[in-house]
Amino acid sequence: MAMKVTPWEVSGHIDYDKLIQSFGTKHISSELLKKFEKEAGELHFMLRRRIFFSHRDADWLFERYDKGEKFVLYTGRGPSGDTHIGHIVPWIFAKWLQDTFDCEMYFQLTDDEKFLHDDNLTADQTHKYAYENALDVIALGFKPGKTFLFSNFDYSKTLYRIAANVAKLTTFSTAKAVFGFENSTNIGMVFFPAMQAAPCFLPSVLKNKNVPVLIPAAIDQDPYWRITRDVADKLGYYKPAAIHSRFLPGLQGPESKMSASVPDSAIFTTDDPKAARKKIMKSFSGGAGTLEAHRKHGGNPNVDTAYQYLYNVFEESDGKIKDIHDAYKSGAMTTGEIKEMLAKKVETFLKKHQENREKARKHLDKFLLKD
Ligand code: TYM
Repeated sequence: MAMKVTPWEVSGHIDYDKLIQSFGTKHISSELLKKFEKEAGELHFMLRRRIFFSHRDADWLFERYDKGEKFVLYTGRGPSGDTHIGHIVPWIFAKWLQDTFDCEMYFQLTDDEKFLHDDNLTADQTHKYAYENALDVIALGFKPGKTFLFSNFDYSKTLYRIAANVAKLTTFSTAKAVFGFENSTNIGMVFFPAMQAAPCFLPSVLKNKNVPVLIPAAIDQDPYWRITRDVADKLGYYKPAAIHSRFLPGLQGPESKMSASVPDSAIFTTDDPKAARKKIMKSFSGGAGTLEAHRKHGGNPNVDTAYQYLYNVFEESDGKIKDIHDAYKSGAMTTGEIKEMLAKKVETFLKKHQENREKARKHLDKFLLKD
């Protein structure tokens, strides 16, 4: 299947080098990683493993940082349903950035976008999901007082004015070229990119001075930063810097998608831990068909869902992941064993996360920006 990567659709075999070329971003070079390590003390496993593989202006951000100018983080979620494990990849990394660089984080919940984009969702539903998804963000341990979440519907008075400034400088022909809009696209969607651009400048507006912003997200969101960066100079703001991650695959194999309407396609943060275990046991395997063949030929970790979930999210130790890789590849470790290993980790994660989520319900107000 041909590769397609837009903010609303990711499909086919993803060629990340090609994406860097067509989007015009940069590889995270070894020099940049060294710089990161120097500033941070150590590298997060998602950097060591190049799960975050591309960036815009991260080198510039560190130059400013060296000069004593602190940066803030901006990321978000389109609340169209429950949160899945793919969504939390950039959030886990953002939490590490917040802890390491002691930065503020601005988190946008685009209930407007999901209402405008999805014929089957009402504004009430996306608005409700915004606050359910917010619990997942807080449950990951972001700092109160330094973490600000907002629903576009509820913070539109502040955001709209910034968005109008972006929109005035962005032509329909640019939006069409970047996002593929057509004559049949509703005009809400045509304006929406200005709303996703707005938080790039929000910290500067709130603090009344220019503030460098770093956006951790998967690379599907990059088109927004392209149009934002185009107008930043003219508005007198810094261009936002971005750091891009790869995509965690769905449970049904390397090119499969996670979808809220297909429960077995993903692990959701609200899944019962036992149900999540069952999904893992049924997930796509890179093992040979029979135990005998597996022992003889070994498995393929590159396509194995359980291995990929361990590598990308649940096994931080480089030593352990290498042992798992080698044992699975040689056939010494079976598909059942690798799935069991993931299932245990996911069950433990979900139990803790769901407790934190319920606690977060009581503290939600401390994290919210509203007009
Ligand atoms: P949404 O809800 O589609 O995705 C939320 C975040 O998850 C990332 N993501 C993934 N990362 C790894 N593997 C996957 N399979 C996977 N699927 C999704 C997305 O890149 C995103 O970072 N329009 C946005 C909401 C938004 C936003 C932002 C996102 C508003 N402002 C700023 C990032 C940064 C959206 O619908 O995200």
